Amino acid sequence: MKAVFFEKPGGLDVLKYGELPTPRPQKGEALVRVKAADLNRLDVWLREDKENASNIPLPHIPGSDAAGVVKEINGESTLRVGQEVVLNPAIPCSACPRCKNGEPCELVKIFGVKNQGSYAEYITAPISQLYPKPKNISFAEAAAFPLTFLTAWHMLVGRANLRKGETVFVWGASGGLGSSAIQVAKYLGAKVIAAAKSEEDAKQIREIGADEIVIYTSGNVESTVKNLTKGLGVDVVFESVGEKTWSMTLAMLRPFGRVVIAGTTSGNMGTQDLSDIYVRQLSIFGARMGQKEEFEKVLELVAAGKLKPIIDKTFSLKDAAEAQKRMVDGKHFGKIVLEIQ
Ligand SMILES: NC(=O)c1ccc[n+]([C@@H]2O[C@H](COP(=O)([O-])OP(=O)(O)OC[C@H]3O[C@@H](n4cnc5c(N)ncnc54)[C@H](OP(=O)(O)O)[C@@H]3O)[C@@H](O)[C@H]2O)c1
Ligand SMILES: [Zn+2]
Repeated sequence: MKAVFFEKPGGLDVLKYGELPTPRPQKGEALVRVKAADLNRLDVWLREDKENASNIPLPHIPGSDAAGVVKEINGESTLRVGQEVVLNPAIPCSACPRCKNGEPCELVKIFGVKNQGSYAEYITAPISQLYPKPKNISFAEAAAFPLTFLTAWHMLVGRANLRKGETVFVWGASGGLGSSAIQVAKYLGAKVIAAAKSEEDAKQIREIGADEIVIYTSGNVESTVKNLTKGLGVDVVFESVGEKTWSMTLAMLRPFGRVVIAGTTSGNMGTQDLSDIYVRQLSIFGARMGQKEEFEKVLELVAAGKLKPIIDKTFSLKDAAEAQKRMVDGKHFGKIVLEIQ
């Protein structure tokens, strides 16, 4: 099959387009002909070795999101050959104490990390990770929502418990995760203040639902947020940028405010005055992917047209390096998709 893969971590030039053996579905798995795959920052981190790529299979096919058509099923399933499907990229480990207790997994595995991903004509996946593709969306849209909407839902609902009428500040709003978070927060009935790097992005961020925009590249973010919240600060901050934004994140929270963090795009190290956390009684939640039930809820809302994947641009599979360059250069707005003919 045709696939995009790397044999060692490195720059964009390590991404090769070529032939690899078509995988065979093991017992309990299905073989899917991928029609669309989608980029996530994780793909870049793995290629650059930020996520300890030495632990991944080489040659490695990146890609956590996929939509396609079932070609073969090895086991019991309600799915059938020829059915259009979408992949839930979060796989519970089945081995941790929480999994054994029937609780949400503490070590959720991500598709395309320890196993081969979706930048390919074919992918195998546990049958339990595959769902019928909603009929109202294209393959490109179906590949563009799972990882980011699942994570955004888990962050805001499962972890930070964002409630109707509360105010949330969203960093990284032009990205896949941030643009999903705005929609989830609006669906929950929250007021959204979002960060934008430019007026041009601000316009698009408003179109997906943000109530207020703060241009973070000019002016003082904290004081603007205070002004927008009558001096109170926000209830929740949605974090995935990390080092560059962390001190502003803490400063813009109101007493008893919550931060939920799932990524550190700008760097891992954040400093803060620890006394601030207990004096203002703040809470910090970490989040990683989400649970099966959360994926099913997100899928239902996408099928109902209540959450909409934002597609930035589509590329053909062979141009995956160019697609990743667009992400690395920060030129995208929403999700970058690879279409596989
Ligand atoms: N824990 C999990 O389960 C999980 C799941 C999904 C993603 N993540 C993590 O979340 C992060 C976002 O992922 P993604 O796929 O949405 O990536 P993405 O599409 O590239 O979005 C990242 C956004 O962050 C903003 N940004 C980047 N560098 C910045 C900086 N130095 N200062 C301020 N803003 C900056 C940019 O938005 P603006 O230009 O609008 O500011 C950019 O669009 C990544 O670190 C990823 O690894 C984690
Ligand atoms: Zn587990």
